[in-house]
Amino acid sequence: MIGIFDSGSGGLTVLKAIREEMPSSDVVYFGDIKNAPYGNKSREELSQHTINAISFLKDKGASSIVSACNSVSASLSLSLLDAFSFAPNTLIEMVGPTVSMFKGTNHTIALVATPATIRSEIYQNAFRMIGKEVTTIPIPALASAIENGEPSETLDAIVADAVPHISADEYSTLVLACTHYPLALSAFKKNIDPKIAIIDPALAVARRVKKQLWPMEVGDGKTHLYITQDSNTFRALVADLFPESAGAIEVIQ
Ligand code: DGL
Repeated sequence: MIGIFDSGSGGLTVLKAIREEMPSSDVVYFGDIKNAPYGNKSREELSQHTINAISFLKDKGASSIVSACNSVSASLSLSLLDAFSFAPNTLIEMVGPTVSMFKGTNHTIALVATPATIRSEIYQNAFRMIGKEVTTIPIPALASAIENGEPSETLDAIVADAVPHISADEYSTLVLACTHYPLALSAFKKNIDPKIAIIDPALAVARRVKKQLWPMEVGDGKTHLYITQDSNTFRALVADLFPESAGAIEVIQ
């Protein structure tokens, strides 16, 4: 069974892509809504949340882990695999597959993410390894606004404030390096020059999941979702994206 986690609803965008690539896998999802947003937390806090999430998923029977949260990528380490006795290659996170998409290309990249992701410098370093400098733009209020189900005008205003200086003369591509942000795609489309390609890395991550976990994770296509606090936004998104799983949400304390 694949265990997927995020601070809340953002990881559903990754789950959606994984469902398309691996429809028969069994999935257990952990959304830590009580502790959301992750993107404004310290490295120490994020490490603790990461350990809690992985240990919860392992208890529920996960044999592999997908971190559908960019903000915790810097907390993921090989020693975690050892600590939880996961087999090598059974931990997949966002940064590697995202950066790999741009290897050998001439894209000029701006990247939006949470402050925690940008502060960790994990993307800046990973892009440097493939010979690219990226411009990073933190959007501190966006993930929580999405998680709280704020209206589209609020999301538009937050995005408009964050990205006015991205010009198509300088950048070919905007990478959405927070899994919540594709849920505000229309706000990005409204505020970005249409010549700039907006990239949601979920598909690249889902392909990596398939490459590493198929056929090991072939099952019956079951999905079970656990959240640490009830949320109408989460329930509405699940009903929209995975109507067959709307009854499979459990709130845990
Ligand atoms: N969706 C997560 C990410 O990709 C976390 C956002 C948040 O909780 O701030 O970073």
